[in-house]
This record gives sequence, structure tokens and C-alpha cells, in this order.
Amino acid sequence: MVASIIQVSDLRKTFQMGTTSVHALDGVNLSIEEGSLTVIMGPSGSGKSTLLYLLGGLDRPSSGKICVDNQFIESMDENELAIFRRKTVGFIFQSFNLITNMTAAQNVEFPMRFARQGRKQRQSIAFDLLERVGLGDRKSHRPGELSGGQQQRVAIARALVNDPKIIFADEPTGNLDTHSSASIMQLLSDLHLSGRTVVVVSHDPRMAAFATHQVFILDGRIVSGEEYLRNSSIKAGSS
Ligand SMILES: Nc1ncnc2c1ncn2[C@@H]1O[C@H](COP(=O)(O)OP(=O)(O)O)[C@@H](O)[C@H]1O
Ligand SMILES: [Mg+2]
Repeated sequence: MVASIIQVSDLRKTFQMGTTSVHALDGVNLSIEEGSLTVIMGPSGSGKSTLLYLLGGLDRPSSGKICVDNQFIESMDENELAIFRRKTVGFIFQSFNLITNMTAAQNVEFPMRFARQGRKQRQSIAFDLLERVGLGDRKSHRPGELSGGQQQRVAIARALVNDPKIIFADEPTGNLDTHSSASIMQLLSDLHLSGRTVVVVSHDPRMAAFATHQVFILDGRIVSGEEYLRNSSIKAGSS
């Protein structure tokens, strides 16, 4: 039996917009296997980003339990949560979220600023990671001097810098052309093959082809593949 590294029970997140409440997550139960590559699919506004942010400790749930790598993160204080984010998870965003006035190497080093290693060692870790994502010759380039695909590779190197067990990626190829997308998806698949747990929000069938598990979400709830397909075909038919 494979152990689950993430367990979520009755997870809810409600956003208050003036007098109306938006139930972004409406009672999610989910378990993600250690070492899996899980792809989350769902239409725009269904709660995918909200779910990923809660699993990665970037936001707080309204209620419910989130156990990640044997830690109940919903009950952590801000300090504990900051350590969790730094040590246990790496995050990759659709818009790369690099610091524009820093070089590729400085961006990758940034999450190590609280680590014990000295400057030379941090730099050598950053250089190694940039080599690994194929950017050995772009260490001193700033984000504005890199293509979208290269920027996303810097962001992947940055996500790996503290050697996290789990990588979350929220539509990582959403801003990329077909060719760059393929290399990013290959990198994510390599991370999974090297033993990490990877959770990706993506609509790309090529990403789904790499997946060991698929999760479908509609209106803040996890649904079966059948229910998801039925709903998509109803929507397609009615438009
Ligand atoms: N910070 C926020 N404030 C208010 N509503 C939000 C916020 N974040 C997300 N929502 C709402 O929650 C729902 C789910 O959003 P999101 O998780 O971003 O969906 P997805 O990533 O699947 O497109 C949407 O209706 C969205 O408008
Ligand atoms: Mg989203």
C-alpha cells in the first residue's frame, strides 16, 4: 500500500465579497499519494488555485483539516507555517513570480536567505540547479532578458532550492508557447520520476499523459471523472 502524503478532510474556503459569500471550496476530501504526479483539472473559477494555495500553506482555510507530510497545517501559527512553506513545499506559478531586478541566480538563491549555508555554498546550489534546468549559461540574466519558458525554468529551480518533498504548480504552462510548455512538463515529470510528489493544475492533455492520478473539481467540490465529463459535455452542448 502506498502512503498518502496529503490528506484533506471537509475543506472549505469562503470569500466574503460585500454581502455575498463565495464558496470557493465547498467540502473537499482528498488524498494524494507520496511520489505521485497528480493533475488537477477544472473550469475557470472552480477552486483549483484556492485548493493549491491551501495545500501549500499560502492561504488559510475557513474550516477543515489539511495534513501535509504528517503536519496539520491549518492549526499552525504564522511562524510554523513559514517554516513549512520553506522546507516542505515548492511553488510554481503561471506568471513565474520572479523578482525582476534580480538575476536568475539571485532569484534561485532567494529562498535560501534564511538557510544556514554560507554565501558561496548558496551560490553553488543555485548554479547547480540552473544547470539542471538547462540554464547554465543564463545565470546572470534578469527575468526581462529571458523568454517565458526560461523564466519558468528559473522558477522551477527556485522551487527546488530547499529540496522540498512536494512541488505545487498552478497552470505552469498557461503563459507559454507549445514548445516551451513541453519542456516545462518534461521537467515536472522528471521531478516526479526522481521521487518527489508533484501536484499540477493543468488543462494540457500532454501533462495529463504524464500523470499517475487525476483530480476533477467543479464548483469547489471534487467529482469523479465520469461526472466531470458529463458536465463538460453538457456545457459544450449548451454553448
Ligand atoms: N481572494 C479572493 N477573494 C474573493 N473571491 C475569490 C478570491 N480568490 C478566489 N475567489 C473566488 O473563488 C472561486 C475560485 O477561485 P480560484 O480558486 O481562483 O479558481 P480557479 O483557479 O479554478 O480558476 C472563484 O469564484 C473566485 O472568484
Ligand atoms: Mg486558478
